[in-house]
Amino acid sequence: MDYFVVIPAAGKGKRMKAGRNKLFLDLEGLPVIIHTLAVFESDPFCKGIVLSVHSDEQFEFEQLLSTHNIKKVHALAAGGQERQYSVYSGLKALPPETEIVLVHDGARPFITRDTIALLAESARETGAAIAAVPVKDTIKQADSGKVSQTVDRANLWSVQTPQAFRTSVLLAAQQKAEDEQFLGTDESSLVERTGYPVQIVESDYDNIKLTTPEDLYFARAIIAKRKESQV
Ligand code: CTP
Ligand code: MG
Repeated sequence: MDYFVVIPAAGKGKRMKAGRNKLFLDLEGLPVIIHTLAVFESDPFCKGIVLSVHSDEQFEFEQLLSTHNIKKVHALAAGGQERQYSVYSGLKALPPETEIVLVHDGARPFITRDTIALLAESARETGAAIAAVPVKDTIKQADSGKVSQTVDRANLWSVQTPQAFRTSVLLAAQQKAEDEQFLGTDESSLVERTGYPVQIVESDYDNIKLTTPEDLYFARAIIAKRKESQV
């Protein structure tokens, strides 16, 4: 299933504590964002990429795209103060005929083309589909440090990106959120509050978001594992 992808890349990376946007950090010889973009660049079903960037970093991103021969970027959109605004800005830069759109964090370089294909297909069928993995830990709810209950793990999912939608479904949800000044943590939360059902697509545990410094160790281990399995 053909799709476009919006990649928000306009964050500050505060929790990574690198003093700059974490997407520029080197990961085994390539900037994080190039790892992420390369997956979509090499996917024949990806018809184009919209990258949302901070205006101060636009030149640096343009340089990287040209150095690393990333050709599918259809537009650079202006990133906003919040991730949700960066995504909305990216959506507005899509070609008008875009039927299926994926939203994928720039900071998740290990997404696979298999998961992307499942999501795009599910979005075509259902209108809204998100990548997720079953929660591994036992989760407890607590009030002021005292456990109030143990939540049944069987029904819990850790949600990732990509999140895939019929473009009209996501645009309507974004518009409603803007009208009502609702700020969500992901695109699904905006769609959920319109009453539209969202399908979970099981992804894998490698699809981590690089958030804190220790995630870079995990990232190097994932790259090493993938290199080993190639030989
Ligand atoms: N993002 C964005 N615009 C924002 C905030 C985040 O485009 N205003 C992007 C980030 O660049 C990242 C993705 O959304 O690719 C996921 O966000 P997150 O992991 O929170 O990254 P940062 O916001 O950069 O990190 P932090 O929250 O630690 O500052
Ligand atoms: Mg953030």
